[in-house]
Amino acid sequence: MAKVLVVGGGGREHAIVHALSKSSKVSEIYAAPGNAGIAKLATCVNIKDTNVSNIVAFAKAEGIDLVVVGPEAALAVGVVDALNEAGIKAFGPTKAATQIESSKSFAKELMAKYNIPTAGYRTFSDYNEALAYVKVNSLPTVLKYDGLAAGKGVVVATTLEMADEALKDMLLDDKFGHGRVVIEEYLEGPEFSFMCLVDNNKVYPLEMAQDHKRAYDNDMGPNTGGMGAYSPLPFITEEDYNYALNEIMIPTAKAMVDMGVPFKGVLYGGLMKTKKGIKVIEFNARFGDPETEVVLPRLESDIYDVFMSIIDGNEPLLRWSDCYTIGIVLASKGYPGDYEKEFVIEGADSDDIYHMGTKIDDKGNLVTNGGRVLFAVAHGASLEEANKKANLLVDSIKCDNLFHRTDIGAKAYKK
Ligand code: AMP
Ligand code: GLY
Repeated sequence: MAKVLVVGGGGREHAIVHALSKSSKVSEIYAAPGNAGIAKLATCVNIKDTNVSNIVAFAKAEGIDLVVVGPEAALAVGVVDALNEAGIKAFGPTKAATQIESSKSFAKELMAKYNIPTAGYRTFSDYNEALAYVKVNSLPTVLKYDGLAAGKGVVVATTLEMADEALKDMLLDDKFGHGRVVIEEYLEGPEFSFMCLVDNNKVYPLEMAQDHKRAYDNDMGPNTGGMGAYSPLPFITEEDYNYALNEIMIPTAKAMVDMGVPFKGVLYGGLMKTKKGIKVIEFNARFGDPETEVVLPRLESDIYDVFMSIIDGNEPLLRWSDCYTIGIVLASKGYPGDYEKEFVIEGADSDDIYHMGTKIDDKGNLVTNGGRVLFAVAHGASLEEANKKANLLVDSIKCDNLFHRTDIGAKAYKK
């Protein structure tokens, strides 16, 4: 029986831990650092997800058989490289391969070189040059900070003032750190998340999901890390699916090998179905959050075997339930801007509620501890049924400082 360590402490890691807890091969699960929900299924150890040396030391001392690394920040500092060097099996890409997510310019250059369809773009490090470029091009325009910014480094500017403010934040005030900006052509159409297990040249698709990036109903408000998700996707035809797999995901995996940065782990294509075809909005080097929380509950195969197959170079067995899942994020009021923490939460005991940002306070209460706090998932024979059930589950949660969207998945079933 195997001992598994999951690195991270959000809803994605809670869903991974939940899936591992159903494996017949796994005897013990640890999480670093985990959260209050994960603690019900795993032993949480107080190690930060980016503390490479402590993660390696813990895995060695405990005789861990498999480490699954969730967050981009941990991948970007090389947790997987360090574990591999120590002879410990780890699921996730190396630091070099994580660049597909951590550097927008690396991803754009790869797509340009290998003819992978994406929005036209230019990269700038000088504020005045960037502003001059925006002035002579049409609006809306898309400004992306060239680094990790927890889903908040992208501004779709509809006015020159908005673009100017974002460029000042990113290039003059270094709001996300000192860096560059990618300015992109604005694309339109429904977005979807295509996560694939990748083992160098080999690509094994997971079921698709759709995230809802905007903070409020009807896709209003600022971009967030994601406010809700559902799976599978009725608007994706077989032709769309084949195109996304054969013209985007497989060529990208092959391009990474060709460029000397082979990828092993989950390659996440953030794709858009535009009138001119499917195009890449972004790549991530990991499971999406909250997509994972609606996709993994539909996986019927043993996830431990799936992870080990990818690591060992074998074909994983992927069997899916044909139910629909919808999940709704409960976020702290103010998110994605400033918010307060430590509000008491009641009624969040269901196994279908994943914890994204919670902790147990000094008095033993479950309290809010992040921007995105909880994720309520429901299953149904249709999206409509799953949406109704998910909203009921949300209503059972009592907390004074949370808000949520009520229209997750609605566009897919409301005519
Ligand atoms: P990203 O972090 O690159 O996925 O961007 C966050 C969100 O900004 C996306 O999910 C889209 O909703 C929006 N976005 C990014 N790039 C574009 C684009 N080129 N055109 C239109 N919207 C975009
Ligand atoms: N849900 C979007 C992401 O994981 O980046």
